[in-house]
Amino acid sequence: MIQVILQGHKNIYDTRELTKLFISEVEIIESTDQPSEKKDYVISRLGKDQQGNLQAFARGDMEGRAAEYQIAVKEPEENLSSREKTLVYDKNQREALRSCLFMVLKDLTGKKPVWGIFTGIRPVKIVQNMLEASRNYDEIFQELTREKFLDQDKAQLLIDIAKKERELIYPLEQRAVNLYISIPFCPSRCFYCSFPSNDLYRKEGEVDQYLTELIKELKASITIINREKIKVNTLYVGGGTPSILRREQFEALFSALQELDQYSDLKEITVEAGRPDTFSVEVLKCLKERGVGRISLNPQTMNEKTLVAIGRKHTPQEIHKAYDMIREVGFESVNMDLIIGLPGETLESLGHTLEEIGKLQPENLTVHTLAVKTNSYFKEHQELLTLGERGVLQMLDKVEAFTNRHQYIPYYMYRQKNMLGNFENVGYSKKGRESLYNMKIMAEKETILGFGAGAVSKVVNLKTDEVKRVPNIKGLGHYMDRIEEALEKKEEILKNFY
Ligand SMILES: C[S@@+](CC[C@H](N)C(=O)[O-])C[C@H]1O[C@@H](n2cnc3c(N)ncnc32)[C@H](O)[C@@H]1O
Ligand code: SF4
Repeated sequence: MIQVILQGHKNIYDTRELTKLFISEVEIIESTDQPSEKKDYVISRLGKDQQGNLQAFARGDMEGRAAEYQIAVKEPEENLSSREKTLVYDKNQREALRSCLFMVLKDLTGKKPVWGIFTGIRPVKIVQNMLEASRNYDEIFQELTREKFLDQDKAQLLIDIAKKERELIYPLEQRAVNLYISIPFCPSRCFYCSFPSNDLYRKEGEVDQYLTELIKELKASITIINREKIKVNTLYVGGGTPSILRREQFEALFSALQELDQYSDLKEITVEAGRPDTFSVEVLKCLKERGVGRISLNPQTMNEKTLVAIGRKHTPQEIHKAYDMIREVGFESVNMDLIIGLPGETLESLGHTLEEIGKLQPENLTVHTLAVKTNSYFKEHQELLTLGERGVLQMLDKVEAFTNRHQYIPYYMYRQKNMLGNFENVGYSKKGRESLYNMKIMAEKETILGFGAGAVSKVVNLKTDEVKRVPNIKGLGHYMDRIEEALEKKEEILKNFY
């Protein structure tokens, strides 16, 4: 346990997130008093030096080791408006505080987190902002490694993905949206998952009723989108496990979607068929007929023992069979999700998973590092998760060697809270087969309209670079009972576009 004492600022959230990368138990207090000699502590201070310049400062003492750092807070550039200056100055202060704290904790603990002072979910956005401020890639790399303390390979990953975004989703469009449709039912709950999905077998009777309300929400928005000629780029049906829908249910959903005037011009349509035990060839044929081009089939692992240990009720053989069926029906784009760090997995068993994926060669491969989520089974059974940071790192190295060997290129990434080792999730793609929807949702540079229970809309304002989060109600019953609220929210969002 370490005590962090804040002086001259109140950045509790930043301080906690950063300190937790080094030491799991943290107590944060605001105090001008000297720390108690008996406790391990760090002081994080913001104040003026003798010349009146603002300085960030950190000093700590832990188990007899001491460290101290000081960094001048950068002044904002003169050519900014006063509002921008305030925002930039505030950001610079927080960054200087984080950098000092990072250096002190690094010296006290001997650890160096690979993502440096970055604790956020979307670090690529920081690189995009630097590019927008006319910085070149070399300068950005130097700043990421020297001032933000990222490992070189992480800095390079961010730059590579930022370049991909520039290539594939720029120039940005203010008047375009993407549609996300939530099907929040699953055949059973996977032990790592905290998604608010509903147990299909307990709520099967509610699927039709849910679709009726979802279609109401969709049709109301589609009417406005058609009338106002708002551009729609991509469509993603996710979950949950959308492939639990029967053929007639998909027909009903897609008939509503096809009321979009531009349906045949959509750049990408994905449907998640995450679990191989949920769908038939008839369903796949129906999706193909309706123009779906990309299917996500998610093994998580190809080891039977692990599948049992994570509560997924399918076998690796079923993955192979489902994959063959998807190809036979003629889908040319398949994604597969994997999770690194599942209980009982070793470098050897990961090797087996990768070997199997190598035989299949999906166009996209999404590699997650296990995150211990609140409300998941593993949160309550952390004794099952024995892999240390080094173990996860070795596994990620193995994945990297595999992706290099099979010409998979990283094209989007994000981080989550409580990931093993604080690493990252990376989407890989064969050249030219990147999923635009995934890139757009991570970049947060184009609006996403989320339909259905728990779906979140993200409304992007390119002028201010702000993203407004508008969530639908989570609970299935509440969503269905209060569908009018969802319609009103969508209407309000869409007004921004006309
Ligand atoms: C929201 S899930 C939906 C996918 C689909 N329902 C399925 O299970 O195949 C998207 C992906 O996130 C990943 N995921 C979910 N929970 C996770 C966790 N706790 N840690 C790491 N990855 C996780 C899994 O790879 C999963 O396929
Ligand atoms: S991982 Fe997918 S299938 Fe499993 S509970 Fe979560 S949403 Fe459902």
